[in-house]
Amino acid sequence: MTDRLKVAVLVSGHGSNLQALIDACQNPGFPAHIVQVISNVRGAFGIQRALKAGIPYSVIDHRKFENRTDFESRLNDELESCGAELVCLAGFMRLLTGSFVEKWQGRLVNVHPSLLPAFKGLDTHARALAAGVKIAGCTIHYVSQDMDAGPIIAQAAVPVLPNDSEDTLAARILQQEHIIFPVALKMIAERRVKIEDGRVLIDGISLDDAVLISPILN
Ligand code: GRF
Repeated sequence: MTDRLKVAVLVSGHGSNLQALIDACQNPGFPAHIVQVISNVRGAFGIQRALKAGIPYSVIDHRKFENRTDFESRLNDELESCGAELVCLAGFMRLLTGSFVEKWQGRLVNVHPSLLPAFKGLDTHARALAAGVKIAGCTIHYVSQDMDAGPIIAQAAVPVLPNDSEDTLAARILQQEHIIFPVALKMIAERRVKIEDGRVLIDGISLDDAVLISPILN
């Protein structure tokens, strides 16, 4: 397929979401392909995944930079030189400054392990359990200036089960992340996703079955 959307994926750790995106992009009919994987952590397992898939990768260790601006300027150079049209944050554990976000506005998406706007930030699973919510989940969203607050593209819900620990809940949610991230990427790459008044429309409407996964409760 020609004209596939060029995607850069940013990771900090295990990279299972990266793997889901790699697997989706390996389908020749998929409308996006990964041109570069970038990690801010040397030794992140995500790098091994890129290597195995034959995808160019680079490590930009944030600790080697005096400040966030210098780190992001290097990151920006790397993204521009690989020709990325969209940047996927897939377990990328660095907050990005307003000026970086502004530069990539509308071209920067993130996966967050909660049903936003609930449980922004870290420790989402522990907080969901402590709050006693009955349904948890994950969100794919555009990144905006405010943390975990940009327009929502796709969400998947899972039940919270009576004996859940942080780990069991996280694993159930992660499975869904691996489903909705490629779905959202596909729709963006097919240019079906638009932002209007801070909300995402797909094919001009606010809901499409593919971007809503909810549990069957019985
Ligand atoms: C995922 O749960 C993601 O939502 C969160 O960090 C985790 C990363 O997992 N931001 P992986 O590195 O993709 O396996």
